[in-house]
Amino acid sequence: MRRRTTPEAFDPTAVRPWSARLPGLAYGGDYNPEQWPQATRLEDVELMRKAGVNFVSVAIFGWATIEPREGELDWAWLDETMDRLHDAGIQVALATATASPPPWLTRKHPEILPRLADETVLHQGGRQAYSVTHPVHREYALRMAARMAERYGEHPALALWHVDNEIGCHVPRDYSDTAAGAFRDWLRARYGTLDALNAAWGTAFWSQRYGSFDDVLPPLVAPTYANPTQQLDFDRFSSDSLLDYYRDLRDLLRELTPHVPTTTNLMVSSATKGMDYFSWAPELDVVANDHYTAAENPDRHVELAFSADMTRGVAGGDPWILMEHSTSAVNWQPRNHTKTPGEMLRNSLAHVARGADAVMFFQWRQSAAGAEKYHSAMVPHAGQDTDVWRRTVELGRALEALAEVRGSRVEARAAICFDYPAWWGAELDSHPTQALRYPDEVLAWYRALWDAGVTVDVVRPGADLSGYRLVIAPTLYLVTDADAANLAAAADAGATVVVTYFSGIVDEHDHVRLGGYPGAFRELLGVRTEEFYTLQVDETVRVSGGPLDASSADLWTEKTHVSPGTEVVASYDDGQLAGLPAVTRRPTTAGGSAWYVATRLDGAGTAALARTVAGAAQVLPAEAAADGVETVRRWSADGRTAWLFAINHTADDAKVATSGVELLAGGDVDGTLVVPAGTVRVVREAH
Ligand code: GAL
Repeated sequence: MRRRTTPEAFDPTAVRPWSARLPGLAYGGDYNPEQWPQATRLEDVELMRKAGVNFVSVAIFGWATIEPREGELDWAWLDETMDRLHDAGIQVALATATASPPPWLTRKHPEILPRLADETVLHQGGRQAYSVTHPVHREYALRMAARMAERYGEHPALALWHVDNEIGCHVPRDYSDTAAGAFRDWLRARYGTLDALNAAWGTAFWSQRYGSFDDVLPPLVAPTYANPTQQLDFDRFSSDSLLDYYRDLRDLLRELTPHVPTTTNLMVSSATKGMDYFSWAPELDVVANDHYTAAENPDRHVELAFSADMTRGVAGGDPWILMEHSTSAVNWQPRNHTKTPGEMLRNSLAHVARGADAVMFFQWRQSAAGAEKYHSAMVPHAGQDTDVWRRTVELGRALEALAEVRGSRVEARAAICFDYPAWWGAELDSHPTQALRYPDEVLAWYRALWDAGVTVDVVRPGADLSGYRLVIAPTLYLVTDADAANLAAAADAGATVVVTYFSGIVDEHDHVRLGGYPGAFRELLGVRTEEFYTLQVDETVRVSGGPLDASSADLWTEKTHVSPGTEVVASYDDGQLAGLPAVTRRPTTAGGSAWYVATRLDGAGTAALARTVAGAAQVLPAEAAADGVETVRRWSADGRTAWLFAINHTADDAKVATSGVELLAGGDVDGTLVVPAGTVRVVREAH
């Protein structure tokens, strides 16, 4: 096996940037050579070169191949793989190989298996059958990671540690006895005393008062609603314990290989609720994300843009790695979608436009056996004479042509707030309606700004908001005093701040802020709601005023009163609340304003209101374009060069005003760029 022979250009004691040895953007995918015979492995590297692949994730599910029986280690295949990749100039995100324990481990130690809320045990035979809090599993996982670091820490192909895989993907909540014990320890640390725990959980209700920490359980299946604060704290604890598992492995790798950066692949999207990735990100040397579009969503490219903008928000604006997506269909949705011509290229470059410096797929070669054999890959079952392979090669060329965008950043003047505890809180049971899905509320506003061509950062409500002219906080049900003050400070500094219904209702313990809704934002917005009026299935009301003309709204209305100085922008035309305020606006200092939207407007109403507030905030589109044409810029550090990405999701050619050099098709652009139907153009502009 190869050891590093050339002198290091980097300070060996500092963490090396993950992309230090790459010429431009990274391109590749999960590479699982353990599934293939030698002849195929040899062909793999040849094909990787043909496609322009320069970065692969290796050994994610390698544990049982490396250690088929306890203590019996077979490194030959991985040694060879690492050397062969290095010889081909391909860098490696090397996994800790811990993503799924080998069968002998769970047989020997069944106590490491996780459990559901009804105490069903999750057995081996699939993957990820381990409890992250179990000390026995932790010990074995650390031992495996240490072996990887000791064996490959100095290998010249190693660029990045890939810790485990999608931690919490299948088991975001573990209700085992070990997890219960860890939950109690977490609660002791959070609350210090039982009195504090009892107060926070409101246990005077329903005879729930605890006399000992030992009586506390995770929210197991119960006759009726579990205590909401117990549920919320279990969500927090679970996210923290999954992160703690990552951190332990990361610390070990740092100790053994201080120069190698570490990450794990997150699942930032509107679908993954389990982990508070804003709190995870500071522990990663580079943020890596996996994203899959949903077949049933005709606007999946908008959800993709949202995920990318939120991944950038999680990364604090830094470039990030798209660690997985799919070349075509996946295998795990009810009816999977084969990508249309151009869709994979648009998907990939939309991630790059929004800050990705790497485009990777699950997986390199489509498996012949196992549960994912019908999941697309870069090399499909049918081989090279296929659409998928030609598109894989085409994407490689495109990424080569875009090498110069690496390291550049997206700048946004608009922000949408997203908060995991607010998500957990908003969707608790025993609420005014069970029909509310927090990410849908956020996505509705995101969609309106996407349609308007406005570039948005998706950030947590406690983020530095000083750079934004427009800040939207949809359904921020649970909010801390500090975060509420942060939003108010933005409005007082001149930003246009929009808060929507069922926001500011509870504190971090899920206790209602008394005196009228939306508690934490009453003063900022200059409103007081006395009662919620939720609507039944198919029930709608009409809203008129300002940009709204008999706009339809559903799900939620409120009996809202305005304070002096607050203007009623729009009111209900009909229903129980006819004539009362539905949208309000309070001017703040420095030309800012605070808007309240007390109902759920339909798409057209949300779009009209979004354009009005963007106009008030003087937030402009990246570049005006026809509906369905996405425009975003990445900027060089000195602000003198920008790369305008124009992604045409429509069936017609589109025009965008810009001048500069087009990098994908090549050629100078003087005033008008033509973006052919279904494809992407990227123009280097001088500013
Ligand atoms: C991810 C996972 C990969 C693969 C992929 C399929 O969740 O990390 O290993 O299973 O999904 O879409």
